[in-house]
This record gives sequence, structure tokens and C-alpha cells, in this order.
Amino acid sequence: MSMRELRQSPTAQMVSPDMQEPELMLECRQLCKVYTQGPERVEVLRNLNLRVYAGERVAIVGASGSGKTTLLNLLGGLDLPSSGEVMIAGLNLASLNEAQRGRMRNRNLGFVYQFHHLLGEFSALENVSMPLLIAGNDVRRSASRAAAILERVGLGHRLEHKPSELSGGERQRVAIARALVTEPRCVLLDEPTGNLDRHTAREIHALMAELNTQLATSFVVVTHDEEFARSLDRVLLLRNGQLEELDAATRAAIAARGLAASLVEAPVQDAAHGE
Ligand SMILES: Nc1ncnc2c1ncn2[C@@H]1O[C@H](COP(=O)(O)OP(=O)(O)OP(=O)(O)O)[C@@H](O)[C@H]1O
Ligand SMILES: [Mg+2]
Repeated sequence: MSMRELRQSPTAQMVSPDMQEPELMLECRQLCKVYTQGPERVEVLRNLNLRVYAGERVAIVGASGSGKTTLLNLLGGLDLPSSGEVMIAGLNLASLNEAQRGRMRNRNLGFVYQFHHLLGEFSALENVSMPLLIAGNDVRRSASRAAAILERVGLGHRLEHKPSELSGGERQRVAIARALVTEPRCVLLDEPTGNLDRHTAREIHALMAELNTQLATSFVVVTHDEEFARSLDRVLLLRNGQLEELDAATRAAIAARGLAASLVEAPVQDAAHGE
């Protein structure tokens, strides 16, 4: 049973009257982001609300330029909103200074960027060890955990390669390994498997499912992979600066037409409701 079903299940509430409300992992309230480019104002997010509970897996879909990366950057504290609030594990990001935000990220969040952002002068093993070292683990233990997760994403034979010596998909897998190696409570991923073949993408999805089951890791994933999006607990469409929850019927319609086509044509929403 997904977290969402659990929250909504009257049986669960009846059987376990003292069962606690699932923990709110991530929340944003009335989030606005406006970019000012000379005299031009680009209003990307407009009073956007989102709640993600511990153990929930949420897909975010939307047309190119709709603001998906902007949203993930705000959720990860990599950028600040024009107005509104972001809370991670109960902490309001605006109340933290840069150093505190960095520590909060290292403790709670994994981040897979759309364009991976690996450190060019370091090997795959060193890139993946980095978050563990920053968290205070010793070098040997960090290297051994980094090697294990690189093995898991199919790169056990590329540990000493630098990013420039890896293919695009291999770099993306190093970035995924780096985000997951600390076993963060919440992972934000920006099109993590866009460059990967179907088999490798499925391996990465399986790894995410495993972490979700074993550690109740939450995932917020921007994706164009409709099969993968449908396998998650919720699918949210970012459109006109806000998130709309896609119900089962709309999700099925999108599956039939293909996600890319549906985004261009803007799928019809019968029972759309904001977060
Ligand atoms: N630093 C910036 N300054 C000005 N405008 C920006 C900036 N970053 C993004 N934008 C604009 O904000 C809009 C949203 O960009 P964003 O990168 O969030 O889109 P996206 O949904 O991730 O798109 P894609 O699917 O192509 O990655 C775009 O129109 C973009 O041109
Ligand atoms: Mg993007």
C-alpha cells in the first residue's frame, strides 16, 4: 500500500487508531519564482503548493520550459524563491544560512541534476565518495561504499575514469550513484534516465524502488519516461506555474498518446485538482 493510500485508508485509521500521520518530508507553500532578464519578467512558478511524505514517490511532468528544473532547484535549496516557503524535514530553508543549507542538503537530500555536474578533475569513485567525506566518513569506508553503489549502477569497471573519459549515460549513472550513496531521506532527480537505454534505465528504477522499500526514501523525479512515471505513487503536471495532480484516467490517456505528445497538446483534465 502506498503512503497516499495509507493516509486515505479509513481501515488503516480504524485498525491503528494511534498510528501516526506519515512524516511530511518536503513541503512548499505559495511558491513563486520570477526571473528578471533585463526589462523582461519571466514568471515561472505561481503560488505553487506541494507536499511529499516520507516514502512517497512523485513524478513531475511538464513541457520544456514549464519550470521543472526551477522547481527542483528551489526544493533542494540550490536557489531561493521570489516568495513563498520551502520546508525540508520540518526546516524552513529561508531560516537557514548558506552553510546550514549545505549541511541540511548533505544530511537529508540527494540531487541528480539535469546536466549531472560532476567534478571534472576527480574520478568516478572520488566523485561518488565526496558526499560521504563531507558528512565526516573516513576515506576507506567512503571509497568502499562508493565502489559498491557504482557497481550497482553498472560502473564497477570504470571507477578510476574521470567524467571526460565516460560516456554521457555513464556520467549520468555516476551522478545517480553520488545522489544515492549517502542513503538520503529524499532524492530529487531531474530527468535521471533521459540519456540511458531502456535496460540501464530499468536498473536505475529498480535501485530507486529498492531504496524506497528498504529505507522509505522519498523521490521527486522529473521525467519524460511515461512507463516509469506511471509506476510511481503520484504524477503531477507542471503547467502555468502550478502543479496539477493527474488522476488515473488522465494518466491512462497520456499513456495511450505518449507523454511527449500529451504535453504539447496539454492533456484534458476532468478531475484536476491542485496540490
Ligand atoms: N536564470 C534564469 N534567468 C532567466 N530565465 C530563466 C533562468 N532559468 C530559467 N529561466 C526560464 O524559466 C523557464 C523555466 O525553465 P526551467 O529550466 O525550469 O524549465 P524546465 O521545465 O526544466 O525545461 P526543460 O524540460 O527544457 O529542462 C524557461 O522559460 C527558462 O527560459
Ligand atoms: Mg529542466
